[in-house]
Amino acid sequence: MRSEKKINAVAIDGPAGSGKSTVSRKVANKLGYTYIDTGAMYRALTLKIMEKNIDLEDSERIIRESGSFTLELQTSGMSDSTIRVLLDSRDVSDLIRDPEVTRNVKYVAVVPEVRANLVKMQQKMIASLDGSVMEGRDIGTVVIPDARYKIFLDASFSERVERRYRELMAKGNDVIIDEVAKDLEERDNSDYRRAVGPLKMADDAHRLDTTGMSIDEVVDAIVSVVHGDRGGK
Ligand code: DC
Repeated sequence: MRSEKKINAVAIDGPAGSGKSTVSRKVANKLGYTYIDTGAMYRALTLKIMEKNIDLEDSERIIRESGSFTLELQTSGMSDSTIRVLLDSRDVSDLIRDPEVTRNVKYVAVVPEVRANLVKMQQKMIASLDGSVMEGRDIGTVVIPDARYKIFLDASFSERVERRYRELMAKGNDVIIDEVAKDLEERDNSDYRRAVGPLKMADDAHRLDTTGMSIDEVVDAIVSVVHGDRGGK
């Protein structure tokens, strides 16, 4: 029998390029749940640190900043369009996707006290919602260990590189595929090897290898995990 303590949330974790963001947004729309992108939170804090010219190795100051910024994640109704991210009331949705921010997030995400502050913010968001899809790296393991549904999305390294390359080119970035591969390898290293909140599959998560699958196939697979459970599996 299902434990009464379970939280009505879908926790989606996985490495960069596994298709988490697009898939999570679509799953949330299909279920009528609220979508929360925790990567956007780490990115917004990183942007703030960069804009204030704080040394990325200065963890004391980074910790202080992580306890005093306000962040709003707005999902635009039921559409599949990207979310809007407001940092201290300013729209930074595009700025946080800048490749320099992407490269620097690791300095912020590695600091345990920073993670504790962001995890607290994330848990508060979850507590205020009945039905959410939260994506990140440590959602099923640290942020919502009691989530009713946990998914670990993965794909082969070469497919993840290919997806990321296509995404960047589509956005007008002139990139070289070898550099995309190098960046992804570095992100994998920092995500998997962090001492606190590393990327790790929860013991009770469904692992989904999305290599060769379309976005809609992945979305359907996740939605059937949720519906399967509702059906009293
Ligand atoms: O999902 P994303 O690529 O937008 O995430 C950006 C970075 O933020 C990622 O390299 C690692 C970090 N992150 C994290 O440490 N923990 C999370 N829950 C989400 C993201």
